Amino acid sequence: MQFQWYPGHMAKAKNAMQEDLKLIDVIVELVDCRVPYSSKNPDIDALANGKSRIILMNKYDLADSSVTEEWVNYYQNKGFFTAKVNSKNDRGVKAVNNVIRDACRAKIERDRKRGIKNRPIRAMVVGIPNVGKSTFINSFAGRSCTKTGNKPGVTKGKQWIRLNKDVELLDTPGILWPKFDDDNVGLRLAFIGSIRDELYNMYELSLLLIQFLLKNYPYTISDYYKIESSDNDVTVLERIAARRGCIKSGAVFDLDKAGKCLIDDFRSGKLGGITLERIKLNCCE
Ligand code: G4P
Repeated sequence: MQFQWYPGHMAKAKNAMQEDLKLIDVIVELVDCRVPYSSKNPDIDALANGKSRIILMNKYDLADSSVTEEWVNYYQNKGFFTAKVNSKNDRGVKAVNNVIRDACRAKIERDRKRGIKNRPIRAMVVGIPNVGKSTFINSFAGRSCTKTGNKPGVTKGKQWIRLNKDVELLDTPGILWPKFDDDNVGLRLAFIGSIRDELYNMYELSLLLIQFLLKNYPYTISDYYKIESSDNDVTVLERIAARRGCIKSGAVFDLDKAGKCLIDDFRSGKLGGITLERIKLNCCE
């Protein structure tokens, strides 16, 4: 399966990011808990250059919680501050304030020694498309926040959300590009819906998801759809089609429709918490 990505978009996003990074103290990068490796942008590490770093494991409601713990440890061991959040339901979001303060402790101390008091920490949210950046910002800022900035000659074109006396957040998130050097990354991003559905074949994608689930979460499909289990991916999809009434004219199974049904159920968490990537010897599979 081929995925399209445009180098022009990447260059533009990178330039915008570099400018914004000059304004901030801490980078808050969102990753999707279901794909904590594939949804992490590779180049931000080079761009970040000395900034404090936080990884927010978003959408933890959709992932396998024990595997999420492993990834939290993995990123902490690499020197990141981390937090697990469900931005959609505001879970864990308020605690991010403390994580920001922890990540910026050295800067706060430096300011104090120089006699600078009450200078807020400036943070920026970044992440690949669909990872939940806007949802997180809305949840984190809440309704009571005030917007600052956009004053001529001060922070031209930039709006800041004043979260409290200590933290300001850049209003616009930084859009990062995924790493596409590995075909598996594109595939996993397709599973979670971060790549437009028109770019791949839903039937093939659903068979690959069935193969993954049979190997890693063996009873998930048969339990959810209440179908007899099978080791054969096409047979499983046919049984889902039968159960869901996905039948075309001529009384044949509509496997495209059944495949879409399975993928949608997975994406919305109906199949339960599932993580597509595990850590293995400092890598993932
Ligand atoms: P982006 O700015 O990074 O592009 O992502 P955005 O906030 O637009 O979120 C993309 C989708 O992910 C949205 O769903 C949003 O509701 C969902 N989402 C964000 N955070 C979480 C989370 O922690 N858990 C879950 N389960 N979902 C989350 P959508 O279907 O595109 O929109 P909507 O119908 O939910 O509004």
